Amino acid sequence: MSDNKQYAWRTQLIYFINDPVTHPHDCVRHHTDGLLIVQNGQIVAAGDYHQTQHLLHHDALLQLLPNNIIMPGLIDTHIHYPQTDIIASPAEGLLPWLETYTFPAESRFSDPELAAEVSKVFLDELLRNGTTTASVYGSVHVSSVDALFNESHARNLRMIAGKVMMDRNCPEYLQDTAESGARDSEALIQRWHGKGRQSYALTPRFAPTSTPEQLGACGELAKHYPDVYLQTHVAENKDEIAWVSELFPNNRSYLDVYDSYGLLRPRSIYGHSIWLDETDRLRMHDTGSVAAHCPTSNLFLASGLFDFQSMQDNQVMHTLATDVGGGTSFSMLRTMNEAHKVARLKGYHLSALSMFYLATLGAARALELDTQIGNLESGKEADFIILDPACTPLMERRMQGVNSLEELLFLFAILGDDRAIKATYSAGVCVHQRNA
Ligand code: GUN
Ligand code: ZN
Repeated sequence: MSDNKQYAWRTQLIYFINDPVTHPHDCVRHHTDGLLIVQNGQIVAAGDYHQTQHLLHHDALLQLLPNNIIMPGLIDTHIHYPQTDIIASPAEGLLPWLETYTFPAESRFSDPELAAEVSKVFLDELLRNGTTTASVYGSVHVSSVDALFNESHARNLRMIAGKVMMDRNCPEYLQDTAESGARDSEALIQRWHGKGRQSYALTPRFAPTSTPEQLGACGELAKHYPDVYLQTHVAENKDEIAWVSELFPNNRSYLDVYDSYGLLRPRSIYGHSIWLDETDRLRMHDTGSVAAHCPTSNLFLASGLFDFQSMQDNQVMHTLATDVGGGTSFSMLRTMNEAHKVARLKGYHLSALSMFYLATLGAARALELDTQIGNLESGKEADFIILDPACTPLMERRMQGVNSLEELLFLFAILGDDRAIKATYSAGVCVHQRNA
């Protein structure tokens, strides 16, 4: 949208300005009769209709959506695009699942044509589910990441992605080397990091598939490129943890392996982070590292239950993520549903306000993207979704009994999926329309 024209929506607006846990009385902006004004892909204003309408240009294109809700685009902080075609594959836990389905599926991404095709399908699926930003694992192949970034850049989406590094303990046809993994990652950084809305993430798959040399080379890159992201897996599954302690006998814990190579830092995203102890969590807090909770994956692979209370007690930044294809849905709403249940099983009540915060402003803050995305404040990139409270007969009926914002959002979190996303906008442009 570079035509300078204003686009505006008169509808209900919901967005966060603070964490509901730390700021329970000043966390959310809710305008039941709101006005969102967008120009040149950015938000001009979002507020109460009657207080904001004076900012409307006389030739603004105004849409009236009295029965819908606009909120910021959802952010998925951990997902694997080469696993799109193996979602919902049966296996007895993480390591058999990787061996039986994941590695063979990822080997196919040496083919740039397949990578280009799946990139389109993958981004379509994110947008259908209202996800406008994600932190994405490619395969080990450089061309897989080029394919994803090419497609994302063409659509002007804000995405983070990286080439998986793995130089041992996986099929030989999927291995790089410490040297080639670092060289290829650096070339991708130069090609893509900061190009339009694309950002690069160094992506060592997990400690078992990297030699100490590879983790060392990754640490060097992380130091050299402090504003590049870093993503990996940690403390997901008991068998995996036992394997790590055999491979790295001198480290105190799984997380300590990454720590010893300088991989704990701001903009580092640790998928799962289930089986951590207090010392680990304090290190995550002190280093500004982020835990990405992947509830559908953790239940599907029976990995374990994320501990919200401990994360909060130790002030570790945490976010929600799908982890497709270990995760069983692209939908951040369905992810909230499972996150709520995981929390309940740990005796913690995860509110709907918290879940929507974590999937929007909370994730944007964790990724240091909150000056660009995460809510509807003026000057932010206009990444937003239109929600439909009447998306199914049951939802429409159940909505009649809603008495608070918490109850309203809770219905979307527990009953919602892609059907609740009526439209998705990226930088002010409609990139998904349900039933289109
Ligand atoms: N650990 C290492 N690789 C993976 C992966 O692809 N998915 C999940 N869930 N865990 C992993
Ligand atoms: Zn994962």
